[in-house]
Amino acid sequence: MEYSIEKMISETQIEERIKELAKMIESDYAGKELVCVGLLKGSIMFMADLLKRIELNLSMDFMKVSSYHGGTDSTGVVQILKDVDSSLEEKEVLIIEDIIDTGLTLETVKKFLATKKPNSIKVCSLLDKPSRRKVDIEGEYIGFEIPDEFVIGYGLDYDEMYRNLPYIAKVVKR
Ligand code: IMP
Ligand code: MG
Repeated sequence: MEYSIEKMISETQIEERIKELAKMIESDYAGKELVCVGLLKGSIMFMADLLKRIELNLSMDFMKVSSYHGGTDSTGVVQILKDVDSSLEEKEVLIIEDIIDTGLTLETVKKFLATKKPNSIKVCSLLDKPSRRKVDIEGEYIGFEIPDEFVIGYGLDYDEMYRNLPYIAKVVKR
């Protein structure tokens, strides 16, 4: 496919929004036992920058799920490839995600984590494409709502490339 990339959300915009999200999370979880569960690999940049801004005692864990086999189309099948390492019993779980698209990934992950008996499960996602939703799921903390475009950068990939871009860009087919 012939394509070009166009910048959509700048480094500064991401940084500013992260500060706001961090303050919201900080006040909502003050005094609680918070475990932030990042979904690999897409959430790594966002998770690192966000959690550095949250002045709370919290712990980090990771899951890996897969719904994409490369390219820009979801297969709709969500497989759990890596479970969390720590106990989530009676903890407040905050799932950190790069983007909510159809919502299928988060639906599967939330159901899976619920079996570990946490007190609460919420979702913080850098990006949200609400127009693409297939299941009724919403994130409690959303960085940016975006239109139905395939985006890359700041953790998000296109066939495993571009995760290291410091900004979010859209892939434009030519
Ligand atoms: P969902 O299960 O359809 O909500 O898809 C969520 C996952 O699909 C995300 O965690 C991303 O890994 C991937 N994804 C969805 N949209 C995009 C995109 O525009 N760019 C890159 N990855 C995406
Ligand atoms: Mg992902």
